Amino acid sequence: MCNSDPAQELCCVVFFSVPGETYVNGRYEERDPGNTKVAATILSEALGCPAMEIVPKDPYPRKYRGQVERAKKEWVESKRPALSFCPDISDYPDVYLCYPNWCGTIPMPVATFLDANIWEGKTIHPLCTNEGSGMGTSIEMIGRCASGALIGAGLPIRGTDAGSCQGLIEKWIG
Ligand SMILES: Cc1cc2nc3c(=O)[nH]c(=O)nc-3n(C[C@H](O)[C@H](O)[C@H](O)COP(=O)(O)O)c2cc1C
Repeated sequence: MCNSDPAQELCCVVFFSVPGETYVNGRYEERDPGNTKVAATILSEALGCPAMEIVPKDPYPRKYRGQVERAKKEWVESKRPALSFCPDISDYPDVYLCYPNWCGTIPMPVATFLDANIWEGKTIHPLCTNEGSGMGTSIEMIGRCASGALIGAGLPIRGTDAGSCQGLIEKWIG
């Protein structure tokens, strides 16, 4: 767990999240902020550490269908979408990485972030919001992109339960 003294921060939270429409229980629902941002905020408060957002240069559509269409294309083409903000984790040995499960794995902007940083000697703690697929194959993909990193136990969180995940998070971070 992080030290709550900002001068001695040992960890950070990095997250990717898309506000707008989601598809849940057979219907579309609007939410802003996105589920992962909600969970990442709870996590950074529990850890007492900073949270940094992975921001794509070209924002994703707010409509769910548009998000899925673009996400699938980026996945099939192994794209690394350009970022307008790419968190620099060089000061932090422990990185809590929060992302939604997209098509069974990490969203490609998360891969851009992983490729852009150096992971030797770092530990990644993955938190994945999802609507039923859990972590999917995201851990394997993180391992391939962040070569040299240790990967801690992952925490899957149901996206619709993100607002009430404090207990799960506290148990996870110990
Ligand atoms: C493009 C896209 C693909 C998704 N693929 C999956 C999936 O394969 N499995 C799953 O359980 N949930 C899937 N979801 C649901 C999201 O993982 C879930 O709603 C998540 O909490 C969204 O996080 P966010 O609001 O922070 O963006 C997908 C959502 C989107 C937009």
